[in-house]
Amino acid sequence: MNTSCIIRGLGHCAPDSVITNADLERMVETNDEWIVSRTGIRERRVALNGETCVDLCFSAAKAALEKAGMQAEELTHIIVATFTPDAFIPSSACTLSHRLGISGRMAMDVSAACSGFLYALETARSILALHPEAKVLVAACDIVSSRVDYTDRGTCILFGDGAGAVVLSSGTPGASDAQVLDVLVSSDGAMGDLLTVKGGGSGTPYKLGDAIRRDFFVEMNGREVYKHAVRSMSSVCGEILEKHGYTKDDVDVFIPHQANLRIVEAVGKRLDIPESKVFTNLQKYGNTSAASVPLALSEAVAAGVVKPGHLVLLGTFGGGFTWGSSLLRF
Ligand SMILES: CC(C)(COP(=O)(O)OP(=O)(O)OC[C@H]1O[C@@H](n2cnc3c(N)ncnc32)[C@H](O)[C@@H]1OP(=O)(O)O)[C@@H](O)C(=O)NCCC(=O)NCCS
Repeated sequence: MNTSCIIRGLGHCAPDSVITNADLERMVETNDEWIVSRTGIRERRVALNGETCVDLCFSAAKAALEKAGMQAEELTHIIVATFTPDAFIPSSACTLSHRLGISGRMAMDVSAACSGFLYALETARSILALHPEAKVLVAACDIVSSRVDYTDRGTCILFGDGAGAVVLSSGTPGASDAQVLDVLVSSDGAMGDLLTVKGGGSGTPYKLGDAIRRDFFVEMNGREVYKHAVRSMSSVCGEILEKHGYTKDDVDVFIPHQANLRIVEAVGKRLDIPESKVFTNLQKYGNTSAASVPLALSEAVAAGVVKPGHLVLLGTFGGGFTWGSSLLRF
């Protein structure tokens, strides 16, 4: 691909309401020690005040546009990565465009669960390859709490809500920009049943008057998901480094999908990247699905963890199964 893909601005947003492990202790039979030792998660942000996917995307997008020094009118393409859109129709991308005060653009949602951001980023790269003058907004958001059963202790402890956004264009990178060097994404539908949200889809429809069933919420075989997450994320991250002639020593900051600390540590160990180079914020957000990586990236940049010149490795894994990696040069 000849056209460059540059991140001109990054933004993130999360709901104000917090659910701590102590709060969960009052909702299901669990305890802080179990949750922290198995996942590292201490609290998560949850849309208790009715915030929607588009609400969070809008705030994250405004922040990214501001960092990019761009107006919404300049955007040519809007992509939203989510499995929890405001509605099936209209897409969250269409609604977001309207909220941004623009129309007449290509606007679409991308569904790849927790890998959604990298799938959307790869889509944006393809758009820039075809239209080098394009200015693409990628927003990744999940209101996972809308699809979590808060009586199921096996899943409700893991997830939170959030959003991250990037504004992309081609050309040469400025001092605070990042070049997207590459994106690798992959999938294997054979393992789709290990992590699902089926209810309400055409394969598991609801009729008027039906009670909401368990299948409306996230259902997961935690142990199997854990194994595949570690295996796939490690291998796709190793693959992208090798493809570009880098070694783990070249990586300045590794930002993996913030699923849980044990997965993050296991992937870091497999890649032999020291803990000091691995950025995590899952302790305060939990797993925010598609938002996880851009939310962490945006925070890492804002906190000065990611500095100009740094090589940043991103990794994702999610339902589908889907997984991916990316290399960014700041
Ligand atoms: C979910 C996960 C933390 C569970 O940890 P685990 O060590 O595999 O635990 P298990 O599911 O085997 O359960 C062990 C025991 O803890 C219990 N348990 C499950 N959730 C619990 C909770 N929140 N609090 C207390 N006990 C709990 C189980 O009932 C089980 O009890 P039993 O032995 O009496 O049957 C772990 O499997 C995991 O992290 N999986 C990946 C999930 C993920 O990240 N998904 C998203 C990927 S994008």
